[in-house]
Formats: sequence, structure tokens, C-alpha cells
Amino acid sequence: MSKNLDRKLRHIHNYPKRGIDFIDITTVLKNAQDFHDLIAELQAACADLNFDKIVAAEARGFIIGSALAYIMQKGFVPVRKAGKLPAAIYKKTYKLEYGESTIEMHKDALQAGERVLFVDDLLAIGGTAEAACELIESAGAEVAGVLFFVELAGLNGRQRLTKYDVRSLYLVH
Ligand code: PRP
Repeated sequence: MSKNLDRKLRHIHNYPKRGIDFIDITTVLKNAQDFHDLIAELQAACADLNFDKIVAAEARGFIIGSALAYIMQKGFVPVRKAGKLPAAIYKKTYKLEYGESTIEMHKDALQAGERVLFVDDLLAIGGTAEAACELIESAGAEVAGVLFFVELAGLNGRQRLTKYDVRSLYLVH
């Protein structure tokens, strides 16, 4: 049953730029019961998917992606911002709702044919998830699903991810 965690999100208007309504998940994470409920809801939302590993993007994606991987006994693969990973990498540059970013993943993090769940806190315009899925596919792995805590419904991020099984716990307008 939904715990209505969307009601506990904090909206910060005009952050980090004018016109952006920033969704702050720390108001959910700081409460032990809410954090537990969030991970339980994510687990339920992907329980029918068959996957070997969870991939998540720095930084907020790490918080929920690693907790979910731990509880589901899956391997965890970090997708990091440029220049942070020490070994050979795949790399992708993409547009954010505000600005541009480059993400990277270790080349040996995934094996060809492995099935992967990409997890993130937020789907905005979809650039991060699209780029992360491309990194996963660069390794020859398969995207079994894409799972978000929050989906910003008005930004149509889903339209960049139409070839994947995309799920989100809460639509926020
Ligand atoms: C945020 C969020 C998602 C991404 C969503 O991360 O955590 O990863 O933006 O936006 P998109 O759908 O438009 O790509 P951000 O890049 O701000 O980094 P952070 O987690 O380090 O704050």
C-alpha cells in the first residue's frame, strides 16, 4: 500500500536556477520509517522484473539504488560524473533540465547479456536515464527496467525512454 511519500517531498522554487522547481528527497530520507517505506515500495515495484544488477547515477541515485541492491541481494554499479572512476570507462554527455553533464561507467562493471535495473530518485527530462541506459547497452548488457521514486509528469521524460519498461512510484506535477 502506498505511503504517500510524495507528500513528504520538499519543493524548492527557483533552485538551482530561476524557473526550476527542485524536488528535495532529503525530507523523506531523514525519517527512518519513510526511508524504509521508500525502499520497500521500490522493491515491490520491481519484484516481477528479472535482473542481475542495479545501476544508479551519482549522487542521489546512489542513495536509493544501493539500498535497493542491498535488500534485493543484487550487485550495485555506480554511474559517476566525469573524472571519478579510476579504470577504463564508457562515457556519455547529455542535457540536463538545467545545464549539461557527463556520466561514466566502468567498462568491466557489466558482462554482456547481464540484465540490469536502472534506478534513480527522479525522472525530469530523461537525459540522465537515457544516457545511463546507453552506457549499460555499450557494455552489451540489457536494460530490464528503469525505476524512479519521482516522475515529473509535465516534462515528458518518458518519451526518451519508450523502448524500456519505465516505472515510477509517484507522479509529481
Ligand atoms: C538529478 C536526479 C536525476 C537527474 C534527473 O541529478 O538525481 O539523476 O537529475 O534529471 P533528468 O531526467 O533531466 O536527466 P543531478 O544531475 O542533479 O545530480 P545529483 O544527484 O548529484 O544532485
